[in-house]
Amino acid sequence: MTQFITQLKRTHHCSELSLKNVGETVVLFGWTATVRDHGGVLFVDLRDREGITQVVFDPETNAQVHDLAKHLRGEYCLGIQGEVSPRPEGMANSKLATGEIEVKVKEFEVFNRAQTPPFLIEDEIDVNEELRLKYRFLDLRRPVMQKHFKLRHEVMQATRNYLTEQNFWEVETPMLTKSTPEGARDYLVPSRVHPGSFYALPQSPQLFKQLLMVSGMERYFQIARCFRDEDLRADRQPEFTQIDLEMSFVDQEDIMSIMEGLVQAIWKTQNISLPQKFNRLTYAESMERFGLDAPDLRFGLELVDVGEIFSNAQFKVFQDVLKNKGVIKAINIKGQAAMSRKDIDDLTKFVGIYGAKGMAYIKVQESEWQSPIVKFFSEEEKQALKEKLQMEPGDLVVFGADKAKIVNDALGNLREHLGEKLQLIDPNQLEFVWVTDFPMFEYDEKEARHAAVHHPFTAPKKEDLELLEENPTGVRTQAYDLVLNGHEIGGGSIRIHDPKVQERVFKLLGISDEEAQEKFGFLLEALKFGAPPHGGLAFGLDRIIMIMTGASSIRDVIAFPKTQKATCLMTEAPTPVPALQLLELGIQTKK
Ligand code: AMO
Ligand code: AMP
Repeated sequence: MTQFITQLKRTHHCSELSLKNVGETVVLFGWTATVRDHGGVLFVDLRDREGITQVVFDPETNAQVHDLAKHLRGEYCLGIQGEVSPRPEGMANSKLATGEIEVKVKEFEVFNRAQTPPFLIEDEIDVNEELRLKYRFLDLRRPVMQKHFKLRHEVMQATRNYLTEQNFWEVETPMLTKSTPEGARDYLVPSRVHPGSFYALPQSPQLFKQLLMVSGMERYFQIARCFRDEDLRADRQPEFTQIDLEMSFVDQEDIMSIMEGLVQAIWKTQNISLPQKFNRLTYAESMERFGLDAPDLRFGLELVDVGEIFSNAQFKVFQDVLKNKGVIKAINIKGQAAMSRKDIDDLTKFVGIYGAKGMAYIKVQESEWQSPIVKFFSEEEKQALKEKLQMEPGDLVVFGADKAKIVNDALGNLREHLGEKLQLIDPNQLEFVWVTDFPMFEYDEKEARHAAVHHPFTAPKKEDLELLEENPTGVRTQAYDLVLNGHEIGGGSIRIHDPKVQERVFKLLGISDEEAQEKFGFLLEALKFGAPPHGGLAFGLDRIIMIMTGASSIRDVIAFPKTQKATCLMTEAPTPVPALQLLELGIQTKK
């Protein structure tokens, strides 16, 4: 075929032509999405990243071209030149932006043929994810995937524009670095020059961005890659992207309000206006009412503490729990009294995953309460329960009684599970909420020591500073998470800028002076050279894009993601390396 393409330039994308262009000679490049041979005339849907245009090979336009076109198959890459014509009466396709026209091909060139792809290149395909990941380059050719990446690009640009307007500078921080303390395992990179020594890939740019504040950069941001070797889930990848930022001379309120502006700018890219101010919950209130620190506020089913009602309970389980300083909470699952025995058993199994030893329940009927436990309740208890939970005939009430952590975990997750199962969630709703006042420390019973809830550079609330030594778990921090529809999409804090406070915190965490010096000596040193008050936050970009696109996994918004087992099915990474390479690195592997 002619080599005309080398002489001609593409005139349009496959989304652009309409009746306005009729009569024009155009050049389109793309892939054959479908080929339909209607005897005399051959129709091809030509697809590029912007859309689809029907192109027609008609022997009456050019017999030789029509003959050659009979060899076209799916996913061939080609260029065509032809004339835009209106489609014949009644043949317009209203579903297609270009549905009122077609292009009558005069010349074309096949740039490359394609083998039959392992799956169809279209939005809805019924194929397992492994195959999609192995042929990711084809998976990404599907229009739905291209939409995800267009949106991701738009969000990244909007982020850069907004933060630039707000006087942030984009600064890059190292990938080959020292362990950063975000609480996951590190990915290590061996040093050839220093056998036996390793770099760590950053879990976040946390320490560097704080150092940039000491350097006087005042406002930093970076769209930063982070690496964490942790258990993977639908919203977790070993390698992910943060919109990371840090600011000097600000307080928590300043940061939160600038971040609200950023989030608004991000959703604006899709013409969605968000509220000026987002809702807020303290951590304590979130745990009390929703059992989790990243609650989905698109539906009710709140947890209600009913411990007070049962202070003199006959029911042994409740009695024991209260004696051991545990809690009793209930959820009134409105209108679900008809739930079957099996469904209730399934829910009981579900809460079992979180350590609940049972799930007592009451089915509220017109005449009676059906329940394995009400026989132990007094009239007063029943009356108080009815009022507190606003119980009405048709309701199903479930109980959790145990240590607070178990009850919150079990009922909090049960609540989210029921929200989905009972279809209480409007998928188009966006419920943002700031969760604030996180505790500084958690007591790790297994290890018998305190652990930082956020990271050890988070500043305590000023009014809680004196509690630091006497009641560490009572200390609240100036930390804040932004939660959207039950996903933690960002988190940050005001940092400690006083080296003495930083040392006290390390001490409480059981980090000795030597260890602190060895791990974070450079930060402690920097704090002694006029460190400004500072704070910041990082958003999980992939999670934001996942929610914006409605994707069910962050793998669908990362170009080349890893599997749940942290492998890449396309490149087959990770792989063993030649013995010589290991030798150079001074590394010996054990089977
Ligand atoms: P944090 O650890 O909360 O904070 O991380 C910030 C945000 O990053 C996202 N995220 C992840 N996304 C995908 N896969 C993962 N494995 C993953 N882990 C975290 C979440 C989370 O809210 N340096 C601090 C921020 C700061 O204090 O400024 C940090 O990294 O959406
Ligand atoms: P049992 O006394 O074991 O027969 O339990 C009576 C009811 O209480 C059953 O419905 C159990 O599921 C429930 N139950 C048992 N332990 C707990 C618990 N820790 N929290 C809530 N319900 C419980």
